[in-house]
Amino acid sequence: EESKRIVLTEDESLAKAKKAKIGHLGSLRGQRVSVSGWVHRLRNQKDIIFIVLRDGTGYLQSVLSGKVAQTYAALTLTLESTVQLHGTLQAVPEGKTAPGGHELVVDYWKVLGGAPGGDEAFTNRLNEKSDPSILADLRHLVLRGEIASAVLKLRAALLSSFRDTLVSHDLLEVTPPCLVQTQVEGGATLFKLDYYGQPAYLTQSSQLYLETCLPSLGDVFCVQESFRAENSHTRRHLSEYTHLEAELAFITFDDLLTHIEAIICETVDRLLANPTTAALIKQLNPNFTAPARPFLRMSYVDAIKWLNEHGIQHEAEDADGNVILDEQGKPKMVDHAVGDDIAEAAERRMTDILGVPMFLYGFPAELKSFYMKRMPYGDGDVHLFTESCDLLMPGVGEIVGGSMRMTDQDELSAAYKKEGIDPTPYYWFTDQRKYGTCEHGGYGLGVERFLAWLANRYTVRECSLYPRWPSRATP
Ligand code: 4AD
Repeated sequence: EESKRIVLTEDESLAKAKKAKIGHLGSLRGQRVSVSGWVHRLRNQKDIIFIVLRDGTGYLQSVLSGKVAQTYAALTLTLESTVQLHGTLQAVPEGKTAPGGHELVVDYWKVLGGAPGGDEAFTNRLNEKSDPSILADLRHLVLRGEIASAVLKLRAALLSSFRDTLVSHDLLEVTPPCLVQTQVEGGATLFKLDYYGQPAYLTQSSQLYLETCLPSLGDVFCVQESFRAENSHTRRHLSEYTHLEAELAFITFDDLLTHIEAIICETVDRLLANPTTAALIKQLNPNFTAPARPFLRMSYVDAIKWLNEHGIQHEAEDADGNVILDEQGKPKMVDHAVGDDIAEAAERRMTDILGVPMFLYGFPAELKSFYMKRMPYGDGDVHLFTESCDLLMPGVGEIVGGSMRMTDQDELSAAYKKEGIDPTPYYWFTDQRKYGTCEHGGYGLGVERFLAWLANRYTVRECSLYPRWPSRATP
């Protein structure tokens, strides 16, 4: 009752509070500041209220005591309410720690928007024990947490670091379309849609468009959403992901591998050289060390041998792709043979045993996309290999897929035919081979997968703002 009668007014005789974001308080020590944000933590101890305030740029410890802690608003304050705090910024006492090394001694404050208490309270809707599907429904609230927001901050830094690195290598950023009428990585994973009465798709990869930029802009890259209708409920598959792709002209396959390695290592170096992002990496992945160069390179054929030498088998399948069961009804396990796809589980075990980034290269043509350049040598008449590579990282597996591209128009026409692709809508892609062809190649990197590796996250779902996976497009 007493508290209801206390009305706070700001003392006009004090210096005017300077409006600031938490991340920029460093130079305002000793001054009177005004900070707005969300109540991230709240503790009431012997008539003193401690608030950790959050505004996206950082966290600020704030102390309310005396009259400012005795108002009705103070006694009914809840987590996640928005408040405006005015006070003097002071260094924390010796021996104590707080974010930024300071705390706000509040002399005036107000609630801008309360959050509910009781059943609807933030901590009741969201807690660590919540079911994963509930957490997915509450992604908008999960994002307010320290881990989720740190991952997204690191993601932002990663994207700008990638851009800086690519630009420093003379690649120009372009923005290809999302709505397309051509496939790149196979019809099975296309999201189809009706486009003014014509069939169209959400893009799987911007590669074909990047190839068309080479004659006008030189080497290019893009950061674009790609869409894959994959019915894969794995730790590393999303239905929509951020795809960083690049394309380079007049290169060899060896140049391509060296370039990918340089972009990745220089991007990581940039992140570690920045104290803010280095701190985020340390927070999320304390054992992170920058990978050593050069990366291990292993041919597909050697990888098949390696898997067999290490007893890593795969599930046997019949001609229709159905898993063959043994007498106990369990999948029958068999050795790998040249021509087999190296499945996610085998790939993961290999990278976990080797423990370093590695390029797998030279995959059989029948496992890869239609546009890939064939290797100059083969396996007798049995297999044709391609100048293709996957970069595998420990803990995640494949994060990059790339290749050299076919340069010859007739060879490309034959490849369309083999794949059962109608070349008509690809006329513009074919024209690249008609009007001054060149040796070229490129790659695509899954940003969420890279981030999962960098930030040591269990799944790519944690590395996307609002992840999409089969049957999930909410929030
Ligand atoms: O290996 P992919 O399918 O290659 C391409 O799309 C090429 N056209 C790229 C190019 O050469 N420009 O995909 C490239 C990368 C993969 O290595 C993986 O990191 C990521 O994209 N990726 C996915 N990430 C999350 N969810 C999915 N469903 C993904 N599919 C591919």
